[in-house]
Amino acid sequence: MKAIVITHPGGPEVLQLMERPRPVITHNEVLIKVMAAGINRPDVFQRKGNYPPPDTAPADIPGLEVAGTIAEVGEAVTRWKPGDKVCALVTGGGYAVYCKAPEGQCLPVPANLSFPEAASLPETFFTVWSNVFDRGTLKPGESLLVHGGSSGIGVAAIQMAKALGSTAYVTAGSDDKCSFCEQLGANKAINYKTADFKEEIKALTNGAGVNVILDMIGGDYMPGNIDSLSIEGRLVMINAINGREAQLDLGKVMAKRLIITGSMLRNRETAFKVAIAQNLEQKIWPLLLSGKIRPIVYKTFDACEAAEAHKLMESSTHTGKIVLTFVQ
Ligand SMILES: NC(=O)c1ccc[n+]([C@@H]2O[C@H](COP(=O)([O-])OP(=O)(O)OC[C@H]3O[C@@H](n4cnc5c(N)ncnc54)[C@H](OP(=O)(O)O)[C@@H]3O)[C@@H](O)[C@H]2O)c1
Repeated sequence: MKAIVITHPGGPEVLQLMERPRPVITHNEVLIKVMAAGINRPDVFQRKGNYPPPDTAPADIPGLEVAGTIAEVGEAVTRWKPGDKVCALVTGGGYAVYCKAPEGQCLPVPANLSFPEAASLPETFFTVWSNVFDRGTLKPGESLLVHGGSSGIGVAAIQMAKALGSTAYVTAGSDDKCSFCEQLGANKAINYKTADFKEEIKALTNGAGVNVILDMIGGDYMPGNIDSLSIEGRLVMINAINGREAQLDLGKVMAKRLIITGSMLRNRETAFKVAIAQNLEQKIWPLLLSGKIRPIVYKTFDACEAAEAHKLMESSTHTGKIVLTFVQ
């Protein structure tokens, strides 16, 4: 089969269209004929050699999410049959004409969505559900601050938080990105290049702070995050772009009874991901079908233009998701 391969660690140009063996499925897996594959920032880290895939994933084919039709099913698979339209969270191998997934990590493509739209959902929706609603326990009536509001993760978090009854504040790196986030439903977007998010959050919440922060920045954001949390607030880390080491005032953690946590989705066991899929199908998929939540696809590229797609992601000029499409 044709696949986009990381030929060696490096810049976008190391992504090359090559022949690779078609994946072989086990009893509880399905083989998906891929029509579209979402791009996520972790794919860029993997391409650079900074994010090695787990042993269960192909060594050199990136891609954490796909949409397409079921081509084959393992003997223990009960839900899907060949021809069914699915999107799936995968541990790797998404940038290929065929990709395998455990059956429980597949979700039906909502009838109103295209394959590229459906392919843009799994990685960010699973991550946001797991970190904001499970670990962060965001509840209706509470408030959320998301750093990187215009990212793929950000657009999922804004929409899910708002649809489930919370207030959503975000930070983003330009006025245009801030407008985009507010049009998507954010109660307020803070341009972190021209304003201090800590002061803005203080004013927006009358000094109370937010209940949950979803942070991919880390490093020097830690003191501002701690100050921006409410009593019993929860800080959930999903990356540390600005550095893994940070200054932490433990006195404030104790005084406000804060919870600091974080997680990485990719290496988690199948049962954990299947449980998230079930929650998403029950609580979020109806909102996709009704149009209350929508995929935000900024640009699609033909799969053979994967290098251009990675260049766009690294430019950080996009808002929402970038998706590869496959001509069958
Ligand atoms: N823990 C997990 O399980 C998990 C799973 C998926 C993703 N993630 C993480 O979540 C983050 C978002 O992923 P994504 O796929 O949504 O990414 P994305 O769409 O590429 O968005 C990343 C955004 O981060 C902002 N940013 C701030 N500082 C940056 C810097 N130094 N370099 C690059 N971008 C910077 C940029 O927006 P501004 O212009 O507003 O700064 C950029 O658009 C990534 O860090 C990723 O590793 C974690």
